This record gives sequence, C-alpha cells and structure tokens, in this order.
Amino acid sequence: STNVKIGIAGLGTVGAGVLKIIKAHGDLLEARSGAHLTVTAVSGRDRTKDRGVSLDGLTWYDDAVALADDPEVDIVLELIGGSDGVAKDLCVRSLSNGKPVVTANKALLAEHGNELAALAEQHDAQLAYEAAVAGGIPIIKALREGLAGNSISRVYGILNGTCNYILTEMEETGGEFDAILKDAQDLGYAEADPSFDIDGVDAAHKLAILASVAFGTPVDFPNVYIEGIRNVAAADIAAASELGYRIRLLGVARRTDAGIEQRVHPCMVRRDTTIANVSGVFNAVVVDGDFVDETSYVGRGAGEGPTASAVVADIVDIALGRHTPTFGIPVDKMTDIPKVPVA
Ligand code: NDP
Ligand code: HSE
Repeated sequence: STNVKIGIAGLGTVGAGVLKIIKAHGDLLEARSGAHLTVTAVSGRDRTKDRGVSLDGLTWYDDAVALADDPEVDIVLELIGGSDGVAKDLCVRSLSNGKPVVTANKALLAEHGNELAALAEQHDAQLAYEAAVAGGIPIIKALREGLAGNSISRVYGILNGTCNYILTEMEETGGEFDAILKDAQDLGYAEADPSFDIDGVDAAHKLAILASVAFGTPVDFPNVYIEGIRNVAAADIAAASELGYRIRLLGVARRTDAGIEQRVHPCMVRRDTTIANVSGVFNAVVVDGDFVDETSYVGRGAGEGPTASAVVADIVDIALGRHTPTFGIPVDKMTDIPKVPVA
C-alpha cells in the first residue's frame, strides 16, 4: 500500500486524540484506506508540553504554516482553532499548494468557508471538516453522501456539547453554572474562549455549515439569529420541568416561504421527545428529507475521542481518493436562496 504522510498543526484535545487513534489503529486504518498512514510532522506552541502521546521522530515546527510546504506532508490537519491568523493562513497555503486539509475548525468555516471551498476547488485539493459539526456524529457525510437523493427542508438539533452538558448538569445535580462550565472545560469540551459556547456562537457556526450542506447554498453566518444559555437560570429549568419540559439549546435551519431561516436559541422541549433525552455532552441532529422522511443522529458532540474519530474518518476518505466538493455542491453551482434576515 502507499504511504500517506500526515502533518498535525495543534496538539491539544483534538490533535493529541488523532495521534492516539492513528497509533492504536494502524493496521485497521491501513486496511480501510489502502494506505499506510504515518504522522511525520507536528506543530504546537510549547514543544516541551506532555501530550500523553510520544512525539519521538516527528519533525517539530514552531511555525505551523510551514507544514504546508513540507514535502514530507501529504495531508495537513488544522487543529489549532480560531477563524483567522495561523489557522486560516495554514489552510490557505496548504490548499494553494494543492495539499488536502482536514480541519475541526467551525469558526473558520463559518467565517471563511466559501472562499476556502473556492480555493480548494481551484487547486483540486480536498477540504474536509467532519469534526467541525457535532463532534463524533458523521453528520456531514450523512447529509452530503447518505442523503444525496433528497431535497432537505429542515435540519436542526443540539449542536453544542458544552451547553448541553451545562443544562443537563444544572437540572440533574442542581450545580452552579460557573462550576459546571469549569468541568466542561476540564473535560476538553469547551472552546478556547468558552463564551463562544455559552453565547450560542459555536452552535451558530455549526448551523451555518449544516445549512450550506443541507440546502446547497453558500455559508451565511451573519444571517444566523443567535441567543445562548448565559441567562438560563436554575429557576427556568425548574419551571420548565414542572410543566413537563426541558430546556435545550437548539440550532434550527429550515426552508420557509420567506427564505432559509437559521436560528440558535434555548427552547422548551417536551420531556418525552428524543431531543429532550439527549443529555450531557451528547449532540443530536434531525434532518427532514423529501424522500427519506425524518432521520436522526445522536452521539458525543465534543471531547478528545469523538472529535478525533471524525478527523480520522476524513483522513481515510482522502487516502482513498474520495473527492467531494466541500459543501456538497461546487461553489459556482450553489443556489443563493434568500435568508430570513436576523431580526
Ligand atoms: P486546544 O486548545 O486543546 O488545542 C489547540 C492546540 O493548538 C494546542 O496544542 C496549541 O499548542 C496549538 N496552537 C495554538 N496556537 C498555535 C500556533 N500559533 N501554532 C501552532 N500551534 C498552536 O483546542 P482543541 O483541540 O479543543 O480544538 C482544536 C480545534 O478543534 C478548534 O478549532 C476547535 O474549535 C475544534 N474542535 C474541538 C472540539 C473539542 O471537543 N475540543 C470538538 C470539535 C472541534 P500548545 O498545546 O503548545 O499550547
Ligand atoms: N466546544 C464545542 C462543544 C466543541 O462544546 O460542542 C465541539 O465542537
């Protein structure tokens, strides 16, 4: 089999997780991808940090963007984060070099996904991001490949593990918001800036990506209505509970007569529904397709193993030579259906 060489930029929760999977499942991945997957180079801020996995024999770059020019790197993994700066520079340079990129960075894709997708097409380089939406749930592949025979009318669900963890723990343990958020951070669920989680921005990033893939439209993050869970109090959860409801932060994208509506906000959901019983770090995504009807997907939405699992799936796709337009449809064939403006 061929040798596929991987460069990893960012060795935090996700990057270290990817190293561990490749180490644990070398033979299995070779059988599935037809390629021997080897990590050759890495980049982080602190070379001396213990990452729970050996970096022996790997080329270290202080400048992550240099991975894009390393001939010993066939696939670049961008696992740093942030919608601009190094993460973006690395992706732009790799794609411009015709080098495939795998990223978990929903902020980057929500802000710059359209231009990155165009760049990927221009240079015939794959830009893959299964890990960016709903962690370990393979929702991008489900929408783009599995449901390709359908016109999608709605996609919605629980898209932020940190918020779902906080809401669930507040209800089940009566714990304080700040202490539970701290636990979520310690567990590796939260964004570097956790206000992205609790203010609904992270869920909105993911919803904008989902809407693009579901409806075949350009990513349109500015037209997502966003309200997070910062103001959800224990009393609100208790009041909802008395009425037979739970509070969940939902992202909903749907076709309406006025155009595509994209909304993220806390919702009251009846306790006997599937979505109300998705607890802790778990995410759920529900998709309505015209021929398949409703399908739903549940799994861990954040954390080392689930997120790295999705990254590795993209690596296998690329090693196999599967080549799908970034958002399912080439950029020049997308339909720019009007969005319902944010009130
Ligand atoms: P972490 O903060 O755990 O890791 C970030 C890594 O990036 C660190 O290893 C850090 O280095 C490195 N880094 C930061 N700046 C630079 C730089 N300038 N050059 C090179 N390396 C740099 O983040 P996560 O692993 O949690 O997240 C990574 C990405 O994955 C983000 O885009 C995030 O949104 C996304 N994601 C995360 C999920 C999760 O559950 N954690 C789930 C889905 C997506 P050092 O360690 O030396 O400080
Ligand atoms: N901070 C994100 C979450 C990570 O909690 O869902 C997964 O994208």
